[in-house]
Amino acid sequence: MNDHRHPMSPVLDHCPPTLPAHAYCDADWYAREMATIWARNWVWAGRLNDLRPGSMQRRQVGAASVIVCRTPDGAVSAFHNVCRHRGAELCAVTEQPMGKLVSCKYHAWSYAASNGHLVAVGQANPTGDFNRGQHGLVKVAVKVWAGFVFLNLSDAPGELQADLPLTALDNWPMDSLITGHRSESLVAGNWKILWENYNECLHCATIHPELSDLVPIYKTGVMAPNEAPGWTPEDTPEPTMKPGAMTWTPTGAPCGPEFPGLTQAERRAGYLFVTIYPTMFVVAHVDYVRAIVFEPLAPDLTRVRAEWYFARETLDQPGFDAAAVAEFAKLVLRQDAEVVEMNQRGLSSPAYKGGTLMPEEYAIRQFDGWVLDQMGVTA
Ligand code: FES
Ligand SMILES: [Fe+2]
Repeated sequence: MNDHRHPMSPVLDHCPPTLPAHAYCDADWYAREMATIWARNWVWAGRLNDLRPGSMQRRQVGAASVIVCRTPDGAVSAFHNVCRHRGAELCAVTEQPMGKLVSCKYHAWSYAASNGHLVAVGQANPTGDFNRGQHGLVKVAVKVWAGFVFLNLSDAPGELQADLPLTALDNWPMDSLITGHRSESLVAGNWKILWENYNECLHCATIHPELSDLVPIYKTGVMAPNEAPGWTPEDTPEPTMKPGAMTWTPTGAPCGPEFPGLTQAERRAGYLFVTIYPTMFVVAHVDYVRAIVFEPLAPDLTRVRAEWYFARETLDQPGFDAAAVAEFAKLVLRQDAEVVEMNQRGLSSPAYKGGTLMPEEYAIRQFDGWVLDQMGVTA
């Protein structure tokens, strides 16, 4: 039993098992995740500001390829990326211009981009038994939150859910922020390992020396004061950033004007994480916001996207270099990618059947429980 932490601390009072090794390697397990977790939850599909009217973008949502359409009048719709004639892929590139119609290159079936209705069948002359109304594109649900577009493959999607209330970012001018930098990488690891790595800081002191210097609490192996031995709810919260540091940049200094609507507590905290399983997390700072997106491609392969968002006046500063601002978090991402790949290689060993979580890894326990719950598996 863990007898040196306050009962309100989230730290576990025991050392539970991890998920079994095959949950990270097995193709059948992965297929079940795609059919449950990734087919029922809202999945990141970009920024509304980055989806130009009159264009469509191709996105991967779990096992499905999806097109997100923005009609010239600005409306957003999404459909499975498959023609209803004989199943050709409709869009083969990341982004392409589009008018009011989505057309298949194969035999020129065309669909209304606004609602997916079939409006033309090329040179074919269907007989009376063919009912156009039954051959429209298959719709995918769309939701916009904080300027992010999300997709949901379910016929009856639930609410978008985060670890914090969806109002958490209300003091940031999310809708008007502009994407100033992007990075994308392939990580040879299961998507759950990325989330598990995100959910603990026992690795921070050794793997992230620069980040641990900026956020000294990370050096102690915990993410927040309430995880530390001896913490009580009566403690006055200490600043988590090092003295003088206000944001996650190499110097800790803001890269532009601070967002004017933030509370004193939000400014003092220096960062706010909002986590949306299984797809992304947002980190909001006093001067910029970034999002990290995990996109599973195979049991042992995940695409990691990162984007940095700025106010117009920040981007307009003479000589402003968004890539230089992004470099700090990119360093941390590279460090994490390396250990995720190391973890994947190791747990693929026939000698490994599963491991053990430490009490500090309570958030991994919650995540693993969420995964099993979503899949309908009893631990
Ligand atoms: S498969 Fe698309 S028009 Fe034939
Ligand atoms: Fe990390």
